[in-house]
Amino acid sequence: MACCAVLTLALALAHPSVRAQDPSGCEDLSAIPETPGRVFERDIQPLLDNCLGCHGGQGGLSLAPDQAYEALVGVASNARPDLLRVDPGDPAQSVLFRAINCNVPEGPSFRMPGLSGPDEQALIRDWIRQGAGDFIQRDRFEQP
Ligand code: HEC
Repeated sequence: MACCAVLTLALALAHPSVRAQDPSGCEDLSAIPETPGRVFERDIQPLLDNCLGCHGGQGGLSLAPDQAYEALVGVASNARPDLLRVDPGDPAQSVLFRAINCNVPEGPSFRMPGLSGPDEQALIRDWIRQGAGDFIQRDRFEQP
């Protein structure tokens, strides 16, 4: 593994432009195991109640219950148009995850307040990593 760490470091140093885009002051959530089966409606939407004071639908990003999923998943960020707010499968490249997990998110200019701590941040991480699904067992009811 030491070889890989050295290689990773060498690659990072060789690509300062890539490194400069990474957010800083991010919390390391790797100690929190992934919980399978995260879906928006049940697991994520309730957390966003804490954000409605600023994202209640009065302009900008709306996280109101009837708008949040469509406003987040696969939608380009205002602050970082080169990134998606939620990039399914890739928390590190998702502005939402950066916004709640990093002190300098490199998108919004400050870290979003409202979550209780690392467990809720990991919940959002897991949901994005697992593909950012919307409803519980949606496939069973909505066959194309
Ligand atoms: C105190 C008010 C406030 C609260 C509370 C707040 N936000 Fe924000 N949020 C903002 C502002 C203002 C911006 C735009 C700031 C900027 O781009 O610099 C923003 C930007 C964002 C963005 C980036 C949107 C984009 O298109 O680039 C995301 C994602 C976000 N907030 C998520 C959240 C979440 C999730 C919560 C709750 C955990 C939350 N915010 C709580 C004020 C707030």
